[in-house]
Amino acid sequence: MGNDSEKIVRTIGVLTSGGDAPGMNAAIRAVVRTALSRGLKVRGIRRGYLGLLNEEIIDLSARDVSDTIERGGTILQTARCKEMRTEEGQQKAAAICKKYGIDGLVVIGGDGSFAGAQKLANLGVNTIGLPGTIDLDIACTEYTIGFDTAVNTAMEAIDKVRDTSTSHERCSIIEVMGRDAGYLALWCGIANGAERILMPEEQDFDEKVLIEDILENKRRGKKNYIIINAEGIGDSINMAKRIEEATGIETRATILGHMQRGGSPTCKDRVYASIMGSLAVDLLIAGKSNRVVGYKHGEYIDFDIDEALAMRKAIPEYQYEISKILAL
Ligand code: ADP
Ligand code: F6P
Repeated sequence: MGNDSEKIVRTIGVLTSGGDAPGMNAAIRAVVRTALSRGLKVRGIRRGYLGLLNEEIIDLSARDVSDTIERGGTILQTARCKEMRTEEGQQKAAAICKKYGIDGLVVIGGDGSFAGAQKLANLGVNTIGLPGTIDLDIACTEYTIGFDTAVNTAMEAIDKVRDTSTSHERCSIIEVMGRDAGYLALWCGIANGAERILMPEEQDFDEKVLIEDILENKRRGKKNYIIINAEGIGDSINMAKRIEEATGIETRATILGHMQRGGSPTCKDRVYASIMGSLAVDLLIAGKSNRVVGYKHGEYIDFDIDEALAMRKAIPEYQYEISKILAL
């Protein structure tokens, strides 16, 4: 992957890619200010890989990231970009990095974005990935930028739905984000005391069993039945109709949607994202490339992107079992 002299980094680029996540700005700010403090130049790339291919590249100063740590979204914007999945797109992106003198690139996003970073690393652009997704579905890390804010946002919204659901003695289905991953649903299910959590990882979901449990729950004297349903299972509105018809219990569906991805980041997201952003720059300065920064067993560590992408993580079964016990 290039000799040592090719790894001397003078200009660092930073981009955000895939779904945005609260805390991305804290990471960008940390990249910019750490790089500047180490005497490097920083270039911001707008709209992820799409912006890179369109050469939407700006210089970033310390003041450009003032008043951003508390802001949700990403000041650099984000995008999805099909062209980056092609070999021609990847070669063009690497050539543009070279044209702009970007010899180190920090990519903030999920696994898809890391796959892009991996391709660029193979083409001679030193890259470091930072895990940015509200889904928590990056296998090499126990923490992803944005999850803490999103799960707290969802939790607060679900508390409000619970108030009205209890008053009316209803069944409520609350759909949270997570097309392929159930972490948001699991955490909300435990934090909000849900009776049932539905996650895409659950292969054997049986609506008939759910309906029987709702009836049993009523017999036990509970005033409501909260179902946290991950987007990957979805169909909440129709499911509510079916449940109401089968149980005679009024049932409402609430889809929280993209409000979960916005808002001011929590303290945890600001701090972890700041530390990760700063570490990314120091890894590049140390001559590292094709790495992802993660957080595991109480420590920040970095992994080879190839290894990180090959890792798998599953919803901890015991946590799911605990959520069921606590719904008694
Ligand atoms: P995330 O980064 O959150 O997983 P996506 O899967 O949408 O989000 O990926 C973000 C972007 O990363 C894609 O739009 C594409 O530009 C780039 N990307 C995804 N997969 C690859 C790949 N296999 N090779 C190169 N680039 C990729
Ligand atoms: O950011 C992750 C995520 O929120 C997933 O949970 C969800 O499936 C997806 O992004 C939806 O993204 P979009 O609506 O931007 O395509």
